Amino acid sequence: MGTVIRSSTGRKPSEIMRLIVTTFTGIVFGFFLGVSFPTLSLTKFNLPSGLLPSIDLSYIEDRYTGRHAWSFMNHSNRRYSPNHLSNDTSKIWVPSNPRGAESLPPGIVEAESDFYLRRLWGKPSEDLTSKPKYLVTFTVGYDQKKNIDAAVKKFSENFTILLFHYDGRTTEWDEFEWSKQAIHVSARKQTKWWYAKRFLHPDIVAPYDYIFIWDEDLGVEHFNAEEYLKLVKKHGLEISQPGLEPNKGLTWQMTKRRGDKEVHKVTEEKPGWCSDPHLPPCAAFVEIMAPVFSREAWRCVWHMIQNDLVHGWGLDFAVRRCVEPAHEKIGVVDAQWIVHQGVPTLGNQGVTETGKAPWQGVRERCRKEWTMFQSRLANAENEYFKSASIDMSNSTAH
Ligand SMILES: *[C@@H]1O[C@H](CO)[C@@H](O)[C@H](O)[C@H]1NC(C)=O
Ligand SMILES: *[C@@H]1O[C@H](CO)[C@@H](O)[C@H](O)[C@H]1NC(C)=O
Ligand SMILES: *[C@@H]1O[C@H](CO)[C@@H](O)[C@H](O)[C@H]1NC(C)=O
Ligand SMILES: *[C@@H]1O[C@H](CO)[C@@H](O)[C@H](O)[C@H]1NC(C)=O
Repeated sequence: MGTVIRSSTGRKPSEIMRLIVTTFTGIVFGFFLGVSFPTLSLTKFNLPSGLLPSIDLSYIEDRYTGRHAWSFMNHSNRRYSPNHLSNDTSKIWVPSNPRGAESLPPGIVEAESDFYLRRLWGKPSEDLTSKPKYLVTFTVGYDQKKNIDAAVKKFSENFTILLFHYDGRTTEWDEFEWSKQAIHVSARKQTKWWYAKRFLHPDIVAPYDYIFIWDEDLGVEHFNAEEYLKLVKKHGLEISQPGLEPNKGLTWQMTKRRGDKEVHKVTEEKPGWCSDPHLPPCAAFVEIMAPVFSREAWRCVWHMIQNDLVHGWGLDFAVRRCVEPAHEKIGVVDAQWIVHQGVPTLGNQGVTETGKAPWQGVRERCRKEWTMFQSRLANAENEYFKSASIDMSNSTAH
């Protein structure tokens, strides 16, 4: 079982003092290193002199007195100035750079990022002791801390843990050792898909092979994340979820756990529910409560998430557009399964309108969003085919 062993950052006062002293020494050393290095490299490697700054010590004084870095540009030693470089840069135009960054030399462009925590001192190249290949996010309220603690412990050190807090309570989580290494994002009363759209841009989560975007009310007693991913890779699933063991009524046959399989990709539904056995809800379908995306699939799905349709309803029927063939690359992992506890948590954060219970207002909005999403998708598709002058009635006639 994946027990979480993350390096402790709980420190005694004497340790903190030592840390501060070490950090300070590191910073001072770093500055002198930064100042002396350009000169060193100039003499050593004979680099074009125009490219490297020669900064005098007054720059450092300015930094310590809290003045803005630009002020050093005014000092007598002016070998380095913005003008000095601009002559060269005006010649640069790289159309293959990311949009807006065409004037930059490609070697300096960092188009992607990550959630790896770094130190403030030492060599950047030695900051990271590990680079987790998987990311798991939970959208949480502090009231569900026991459940989340249990869930996080099912994810090994190969996972970056990212919590989205909808109740504004973040520091309280530090009672858990793993919390100190986790990333915490706080914005009140928002939904999982709101956070996902804003903080999980494909270029930000680019280093992660798989991304778990999970609710907080999942029972994970029979789930192990490493084993789960082994099966996902074995069966070539780009979008997946663990099988659900219902303790209450279950919505879809597809996501129900099968006792006799590792993984399933198709199912049978009630008569008339599936227009095609390879289409949702009979195949190419997982629910939005506990999805797992490959990097490539997520790059597509992220673009489909609407900024204003925060509940994500209808997304589950549409993710099939992101993988091909969808009925083979979307599936449910039966051997690693979870229990949907159905705690109406975020629903209770709704606002009472016209005398209804808060959860009713939320539920109504969910349904409304579902139809809005369906019609947006249909309209977008129609417009596309119209603009591409493909008459749908011709192409689907036979
Ligand atoms: C630096 O020079 C610019 C323009 O010459 C001037 O506007 C600015 O106030 C100067 N900054 C400092 C910190 O002296
Ligand atoms: C940059 O261009 C300006 C004006 O054309 C010129 O005076 C200056 O010497 C040039 N600088 C370099 C480094 O070529
Ligand atoms: C973490 O990943 C490494 C490399 O893939 C693997 O050897 C190790 O077993 C993983 N850790 C756990 C707890 O599964
Ligand atoms: C579709 O059918 C109409 C009428 O038969 C025809 O005018 C039109 O060119 C067709 N479009 C395509 C893309 O085949």
